[in-house]
Amino acid sequence: MTFNNYIDGRWVASPSGRLFENRNPADHTDLIGRFQASTADDAGDAVAAAARAYASWRLVPAPRRAEILFRAAQVLAARKEDFARDMAREMGKVLEETRGDVQEAIDMTYYMAGEGRRLYGQTVPSELRSKFAMSVRQPIGVCSVITPWNFPMAIPSWKIMPALVCGNTVVFKPATLTPLSAVNFVKVLEEAGVPAGVVNLVTGGADVGTLLSTHAGVSVVSFTGSTAVGRLVNQHAAAAFKKVHLEMGGKNVVMIMDDADLDLAVDGCLWGGFGTTGQRCTAASRVVVHERVYDAFVDAFVRRARALRVGNGLDPAVQMGPLVSDAQLATVVAYVEIGRHEGATLLTGGHRLADGALAGGFFHEPTIFGDVTPAMRIAQEEIFGPVVSLMRCRSLDEAVAIGNGVAYGLSASIYTRDVNTAFTAMRDMYTGIFYVNAPTIGAEVHLPFGGTKATGNGHREAGTAALDVFSEWKSIYVDFSGRLQRAQIDTQQL
Ligand code: UN1
Repeated sequence: MTFNNYIDGRWVASPSGRLFENRNPADHTDLIGRFQASTADDAGDAVAAAARAYASWRLVPAPRRAEILFRAAQVLAARKEDFARDMAREMGKVLEETRGDVQEAIDMTYYMAGEGRRLYGQTVPSELRSKFAMSVRQPIGVCSVITPWNFPMAIPSWKIMPALVCGNTVVFKPATLTPLSAVNFVKVLEEAGVPAGVVNLVTGGADVGTLLSTHAGVSVVSFTGSTAVGRLVNQHAAAAFKKVHLEMGGKNVVMIMDDADLDLAVDGCLWGGFGTTGQRCTAASRVVVHERVYDAFVDAFVRRARALRVGNGLDPAVQMGPLVSDAQLATVVAYVEIGRHEGATLLTGGHRLADGALAGGFFHEPTIFGDVTPAMRIAQEEIFGPVVSLMRCRSLDEAVAIGNGVAYGLSASIYTRDVNTAFTAMRDMYTGIFYVNAPTIGAEVHLPFGGTKATGNGHREAGTAALDVFSEWKSIYVDFSGRLQRAQIDTQQL
């Protein structure tokens, strides 16, 4: 089956005739479909359509725009199971998690639909008589939305829904590894009544991405993906002062103190480290354990990791699916080698799994390195796979120093029963997200999501913070005194 782009309200093939294949990472002989390998011209057509549609969409009252989003949320909910199955097939994560991914899109869509009747600004008193002062959010224009493969519906919804409710139009370029979920998502928007040109879908690779971050008709670029590509997007967009929102890598830490509930911590580290096969920007890829409980934690964590059932995500008994691609698998294999070389102790895992039913997929064992030191590459670099690095600490201060001692600042967590310890860590970890007695994954849609340092560029998605990416403030002064009043100067009259 061949899938098309969606431009100006029509499903169209790229005139170039170029296609790419989408295959199941659990079984590479399973061809899911062929998608348009679009060119810069296709992306340019989409930007032009979005620019035309903006002229009328920005004037649709926000509560009316929101009604379309409410309908979209209902359609997403009705199709949740089908979309979850398609997603497990094209991306590999287990069905329980793909259902969660679709649910996150449903939650975000309802949440942003609610914003249609809020989009709060401020009214404040003026310093002058008979003068009214307020601030309102205004839409910006055409938004390029460039999304990764690890959350094929959730992350597009984090960007597209706030963009739409604020009155912008969108050109959406999904990752080439998960285009089917993007098509499913855009079909929902079409069915919900999004007018032609308001959301456009262009599948393809770097040619499309480059056009979408440089085209003069684009005002906002919202990107989630690797730090290397994010830097390029930022550089491309800088020349024309586009507004750029970047959400990039993570090297998140779980800190386990000597008073922690260790069973709870083990549950959390399994879910945080091996959920989504470790392919989350929020993955708990580092665990810093107090030396007094290190051995006890390691025993239980390794035993539980060994027992995880790895396989095809569509099998309900499976707990961890494949890596998304051969390239991602090769990265994991390379980092295992790096960890060995650096002198870390391989406690479990470390091998590709390719026997029997797993032969056709990109499977890898859940892998844990012990005796890792903070400067090692496996403790510093994002791997994006099922590899967890364990380090020892002697105190909270040391744990926090190790935790903060990386280039990224997305998510961190602490396991402790001591409220003072919890609050100290909460204050001192310089991350965008922090958890107490829970792992580093599991953000909810109505709170800001994003990180510090090399994780982001100061923006947040989700929550009302997302509205700041997709709108600009306009401060409005209305002087109804009938005479010239000068701010800062006419200060005498009471
Ligand atoms: C990501 O890994 O890119 O908090 C997003 C979480 C999810 C979102 C992760 N709700 O882990």
